[in-house]
Amino acid sequence: MSITNFPSGSPANNSITKVTVPALAEMKRQGKPISALTAYDYATSRLVDEAGIDLILVGDSLAMVVLGHENTLAVTVDEMLHHTRAVRRAVRRALVVADMPFGSYHGTVAEGLANAIRFVKEAGAEAVKIEGPRVELVRALTEAEIPVIGHLGLTPQSIHRMGGYRVQARTTETVLKLKADARALADAGAGVLVLEGIPREVAADITADLTIPTIGIGAGPKCDGQILVFHDLVNLTFAPAAKFVRRYADASALLRNAIEHYREDVEHRTFPSDEESYHLPEAAKDALAPARESVEPIHALRKA
Ligand code: KIV
Repeated sequence: MSITNFPSGSPANNSITKVTVPALAEMKRQGKPISALTAYDYATSRLVDEAGIDLILVGDSLAMVVLGHENTLAVTVDEMLHHTRAVRRAVRRALVVADMPFGSYHGTVAEGLANAIRFVKEAGAEAVKIEGPRVELVRALTEAEIPVIGHLGLTPQSIHRMGGYRVQARTTETVLKLKADARALADAGAGVLVLEGIPREVAADITADLTIPTIGIGAGPKCDGQILVFHDLVNLTFAPAAKFVRRYADASALLRNAIEHYREDVEHRTFPSDEESYHLPEAAKDALAPARESVEPIHALRKA
């Protein structure tokens, strides 16, 4: 191996330590909480990364919050690759995880592996996330050197089987099954486990049982880290928030206000101002003056 290029400048100037999957495991060992957030484009990913979030998930939730679909099922591998590339270009520190969309790993292990390789090779993902207890696939991805984030509990790609987005693991039988699945994914090589929409007690037990970090969303405070959907965090979803969401800003109100203000300024001709306009140099103005004066404004011609 020979290191030939340093994308973010010379190594001496580069004070940023990249977050990796082993680094997240070390955070768990040290009892340091892991912050994670979804992001789907360059601008928001830069903000998220520069704010010091440890893990950025290019979630298939983009199907809903960015593309306007009713659920996550419609988004394609090519669409996910497109967004993962944009995020990758923005991020210097956080671990960039690509969510594998519905259908891209539900056939054979070989198909799942081939699609995961695309996320690493074509989009620069540093790990992929897959939903459900797909132990064989996790093993194959791990053997292929692709870090895997598992995702158990309320798995949105199972919406039709679950009969809606419902809290999972509320009976003895389903709790035991979830715990066994979590252990099996960790044993197969998953580096991190997302736990979504489960009772906090169950998430706490799984977190204590595993050496890999758990990251919760609607799974209570005892997980090793927390993740939210960016658009939930800043109120850009046009829908009431789920119980587990905390809104940290009202971007809808902020943006709506700015856009309405801009429209009013255009309608009242107060935008752009003279200071916001380019000007001809004096000499050119003088030379062109007779010609410019002979050009009647269109509205004056209409009145005549
Ligand atoms: O797609 C997504 O945003 C997710 C998170 C909710 C974990 O899977």
